[in-house]
Amino acid sequence: MNKIVLASGNPGKIREIQAILADHPIVPQSAFNVVDVEETGSTFVENAILKARNAALHCNLPAIADDSGLVVDALNGAPGVMSARYAGVGANDRDNLNKLLRELDGVAEELRTARFICVMVFMEHANDPCPVIAQGVWEGRILDHAVGENGFGYDPVFWVPEQNCASAELPAAVKNSLSHRGQALKRLTTLIKAREAA
Ligand code: IMP
Repeated sequence: MNKIVLASGNPGKIREIQAILADHPIVPQSAFNVVDVEETGSTFVENAILKARNAALHCNLPAIADDSGLVVDALNGAPGVMSARYAGVGANDRDNLNKLLRELDGVAEELRTARFICVMVFMEHANDPCPVIAQGVWEGRILDHAVGENGFGYDPVFWVPEQNCASAELPAAVKNSLSHRGQALKRLTTLIKAREAA
C-alpha cells in the first residue's frame, strides 16, 4: 500500500492516524525535511489544504493535513484560525489562554459558548482538484479560570458539558473519543476508504 505523508510532526497525531489507517504506512513530513508552509488562509479548510498540498508537493506522496482551533461566539469566532498565535507570534499556550480569559472578562456564563473545530484533508497529489475533507466539531463553554493538567492549548478553560468537567481534566482516551480531532479523523478515514473502494 502507498505511503501517506502527514503534514505534522506531532507523534500523538501520527499514532492515532496510523492506528486507523492501518493499511498505509503514515510518515511524518519531518522525515522528508519539509519546511512548514505559512498558514495564510482565513478558514481552517484553506489552511489544511495549504499544509496537505505543501507536504504532497515536497514528498511526491499522498498527504494528510489538519487544521484546528477554538471558535468563541462572544468573540465573533475568535481566536479561530489564529488560535495558536492569539497572543502574538511566538506566544505559548498559557499566553493565549490568558488573553482569552481577559477578552471574556465580565461575559456571563450563558454567553460563553464555544467549540473546537478540526478540519482534516487528504490529497492524492499536490494538484489533486478534489481533496477529501472531513470536519469535527466539539461543543462546550469557556470557563472563567483554568482547571486540570491534561491536554494542551485551551483545554484547561474548555468546559465539556457531557462530562461535567474541563477538557484538561479528561484522560487522553476519553478526550480522543469525543474531540473535534477524533471525529474528523474517523470521518476522513471512512471517506478515504470509500474513495479507494470506488
Ligand atoms: P493547529 O491545528 O496545530 O494549527 O493548532 C491550532 C491551535 O488550536 C492549537 O495550538 C491550540 O491552541 C488550539 N487547539 C486545537 N485543538 C485543541 C485541543 O484539542 N485542545 C486545546 N487547544 C486546541
